[in-house]
Amino acid sequence: MRVLWVTNDLPPRAGGIEQFVGNLLARVHPGSTIVLGPAPSDPAEAAAHDRAQPYRTQRAGGRVLPTSGIRRQVVALARAHRAEVIVLGACWPLGELAPALTRELDVPVVALSHGLEAGLPGVGLGVLVRRATRGLAAMTTISDFTESRLAPHVRADRLERVPPGVDVDRFHPGVDGRALREAWDIPADAMLVGTVSRLVRRKGQDHLVEVWPEVRRRHPEAWLVLVGEGPLAETLDRAIGLQGPQAQIRRVGRVGWDLLPACYAALDVFAMPCRTRLAGTDVEGLGIVYLEAQATGVPAIAGRSGGAPETVRDGQTGSVVDGDDRDTIVAAVDHWLADEGARRAAGRAGRRWVTSRWSWPAIAERFAGLLDEVVGEHTTGG
Ligand code: GDD
Repeated sequence: MRVLWVTNDLPPRAGGIEQFVGNLLARVHPGSTIVLGPAPSDPAEAAAHDRAQPYRTQRAGGRVLPTSGIRRQVVALARAHRAEVIVLGACWPLGELAPALTRELDVPVVALSHGLEAGLPGVGLGVLVRRATRGLAAMTTISDFTESRLAPHVRADRLERVPPGVDVDRFHPGVDGRALREAWDIPADAMLVGTVSRLVRRKGQDHLVEVWPEVRRRHPEAWLVLVGEGPLAETLDRAIGLQGPQAQIRRVGRVGWDLLPACYAALDVFAMPCRTRLAGTDVEGLGIVYLEAQATGVPAIAGRSGGAPETVRDGQTGSVVDGDDRDTIVAAVDHWLADEGARRAAGRAGRRWVTSRWSWPAIAERFAGLLDEVVGEHTTGG
């Protein structure tokens, strides 16, 4: 099947939508797929990345948004590629292009949805979802939470569950994180709690840093590592600085994709106590990081925001906490640090949970099936 993807979120930039889109691109008809992606911030890094992929990448001159310039580019690419279906990396706002694309090209348009779209109806912006989905042959959702928020507003012909998954052959309990711990200058025998994510308030790194002295009071040997970059970096550095040179917190910035599995393997406990903000518009759609941690055999502490609780089996593979409640965060971290047996059991259970529910082959197959059905229905006029 000849597929044209249009997305503003594409690796090598780090992020959940990027990871999700990159995996589907590589796994569903890669040899006959072309993707129109955004201009990269580091052209050399992106060129090397794009060359190494099994699908073809074309970079736009700027961001990939529903403008008339992008629409013209998509139409030209679709014709040159003889695309049978167009996939939009995110339904909002790119779905605005769908009615015109279907009209001009006579091909069905499918869009993924994430957390952002699900936050819109709660603040009276369901109209944006309705507008962005009215030309879609199908839209996918990532969690029970996002589907329940979106369903009343979606005008696509079909709504299908396609969550992001994890490459369980890359993220597995055999990965060795010791070299990375050493590179971070964290003692080999320390208990290490950590998070991997963009540094933004929703993800809760600020609360982790705030509660860290209380965790240290109970576990003086514990260290905290924050992986990732983002707008909260300076605020976090100031908060860490206030705790003095003995804080036992490392902020290590962004890591390359190849080092990601080792980041999780270096941890004893993964903690990202995310929280919903901005009247519900800033909400966790799912949280791939929790799945990556559990696939690597590390217990995961998730925040009660959007679909994040759906990624963890509370008490068995990790914990679900109220990300605004510092005491609950401390209690959960304390629980997993204090009990090595429970950590090991949770690591095994988490690995089983992720491989059975969230591994890529089954998810990619579901998405390929959806494309087959949508193209089949379009061809037969169904
Ligand atoms: N290489 C690298 N380097 N990857 C990173 C870094 C970094 O420094 N920091 C985070 N990542 C990766 C994580 O490993 C994970 O694969 C991804 O970026 C983050 O994904 P999510 O945890 O899902 O969060 P998000 O906010 O970026 O993603 C949004 O879309 C997802 C997919 O629909 C949210 O709505 C999520 O809830 C949703 O799961």
